[in-house]
Amino acid sequence: MTSRTFYITTPIYYVNDLPHIGHIYTTVVADVVARYQRMRGREVRFLTGTDEHGQKIVKAALAQGITPEELANRVVRRYPPLWQALGITNDDFIRTTEPRHWAGVHEMIRRMEARGDIYKGNYGGWYCAGCEAFFPQTQLVEGKCPEQGHPVEWLEEESYFFRLSAYQQPLLRFYSDHPDFIRPESRYNEVVRFVEGGLKDLSVSRVSLPWGIPWPGDPRHVVYVWLDALTNYISALGFGSQDPSLFERFWPADLHLVGKDILRFHCVYWPAFLLSAGLPLPRQVYGHGWWLRDDKKMSKSFGNVVRPDHLLERFGADPLRYFMLREMTFGQDASFSDEGFLQRYNADLANGLGNAAARVLAMTRRYYSGTTPPVRCGANVLADKSGEVVARYVACMDSLEFHRALEAVWELVSAVDGYVNEKQPWAIFKLEGGSSERLGRVLYNSLEALRLAAAMLAPVMPTTSRRLLAQMGIAPESRAAVALSWGELPTLAPLGEEGALFPRVDVQEFLAEVTVNETSEPGGQSVAPPPAAPAGAAEEQISIEEFARVKLVVGLITAAERIPKSKKLVRMQVDLGEGKQRQIVAGIGTRYAPEQLVGRRAVFVANLKPAVLMGVESQGMVLAASVEGDPFLLGVDGEVPPGTGVK
Ligand code: MSP
Repeated sequence: MTSRTFYITTPIYYVNDLPHIGHIYTTVVADVVARYQRMRGREVRFLTGTDEHGQKIVKAALAQGITPEELANRVVRRYPPLWQALGITNDDFIRTTEPRHWAGVHEMIRRMEARGDIYKGNYGGWYCAGCEAFFPQTQLVEGKCPEQGHPVEWLEEESYFFRLSAYQQPLLRFYSDHPDFIRPESRYNEVVRFVEGGLKDLSVSRVSLPWGIPWPGDPRHVVYVWLDALTNYISALGFGSQDPSLFERFWPADLHLVGKDILRFHCVYWPAFLLSAGLPLPRQVYGHGWWLRDDKKMSKSFGNVVRPDHLLERFGADPLRYFMLREMTFGQDASFSDEGFLQRYNADLANGLGNAAARVLAMTRRYYSGTTPPVRCGANVLADKSGEVVARYVACMDSLEFHRALEAVWELVSAVDGYVNEKQPWAIFKLEGGSSERLGRVLYNSLEALRLAAAMLAPVMPTTSRRLLAQMGIAPESRAAVALSWGELPTLAPLGEEGALFPRVDVQEFLAEVTVNETSEPGGQSVAPPPAAPAGAAEEQISIEEFARVKLVVGLITAAERIPKSKKLVRMQVDLGEGKQRQIVAGIGTRYAPEQLVGRRAVFVANLKPAVLMGVESQGMVLAASVEGDPFLLGVDGEVPPGTGVK
């Protein structure tokens, strides 16, 4: 029997970095599931948050010259506006530095100790701060962590241990009794094989780390960051507090959504901790794939992350949400690129859904003076197609096959297009000399199929769904906005305001603007102005020879003009002391008028490969600091001759 409640979680995100596409993805998927379950009448609890302890955070803070607490506070501040911009409807946001979380962790450890599963010993092993995990020598690959190739360091210290080895058989029994516990199936098999290979006791405390939750009764130790972090799923429900009502109502979780890299922690450690504490186990852990960039996992450590700000700013949340859910077969890896995004935007959204809706609404407006047709219509090909698509959509959403659910909706959209082409409402109007009953039926059917598409799209594209329904004159709180059965479109209802749902985008122009933003905004979106990293810090360091490869020189701007149709791009003629002018294009027009630039000295990169931006060749780059996307040119203190080198 399905329960009335539904508890869904995302991993809690490390605060060593700002959220990128990979983090956003899990949260968007969780939001889609939460919205879908609400739409199906479930009482949903949706949790996300931040993982703020551990060595990784200490290292990142050190590299920025601030305390871990300051770093955490800075990064956490970025989440509410980002989640809002993405339309995320989480019910709670937990931080592992909150007292309510500490209470939950202490209660967990108290229970594990009472069960006799905790003992003190000494540990020596290779520790990977990137994964926050120990690896035996035999598992290292070329002296690096086997999971993601991060560097490891030897750690030897006193530690509390958890008797993980005692849980091998109980876990294997649990997996075999609950074959749906780990999804997709390939990952289930992976985890079972891992546990069959044997489990060693787990070190669950650290003495050499000052940043973490103190071990209850022995504050020299802090709690191992994964025991700390995993407990968020219950501490956020009040486990270990005076008020366990949410815990009683929502635990066990229906779905923990995680990336495949953290499957072991969720499918081996977490259930073993829960078994030890005498608590029920979650119903399902889903390990999704990675967003790749150049065939590599997108990750801060690889320096290849994509942040979504420019796409969100330009398109709003819905197209990005759609792209993520449609492009990635849930469970597998996929590549992220602006080109891929724009291709889907134009093909599926602008030409597909947007065009079909605009066409049907324009005809309805014309032939029925701005209202829905007066006839309601029963059996017909579109009603049949809708019934089949809705059933497929529900089955796919229930089994988390989002790309197939969306494929089904797009089949319906194409069916509307095909139906309109075949019935030719304009010809009926002409032939029958006005708005006949037959014409009304054709347009009613087309609108009703689009209404169903809009209702099904609500979890993935909530704003678009509301807009499209409003254009059909349907209020968001009405039955017609959510019902997935045929025939709910009201007759003679006034249509709402017109407007293209997805204006087409000129791909070349958009890409040119983005390139300029990326190249003209050094430092991009850093959490803080990054100070020089101290020796041994986590940031990659370069040699003086590598730095010397970039030819930086002083340049004098002799002419400047805006590039037509661009908000940001300015074309400059610059004297770099070469006896001829160079043409350099920069995205600085939002802050500088061309006339302010002429006669100014700035610092330029003189040996950058030329690039074409909106059809104009740029033969170098000007340096600018970026404050929230606003460019500030780097100045020169005096009348330094053009071409003078900068070091
Ligand atoms: N703090 C731990 C999770 C603790 S949960 C009790 C952690 N944090 S993380 O910030 O590194 O990653 C959070 C999630 O983002 C993980 O599920 C991870 O798989 C996901 N992603 C990070 N990069 C990713 C991609 N490039 N693609 C898709 N998701 C990936 O792990």
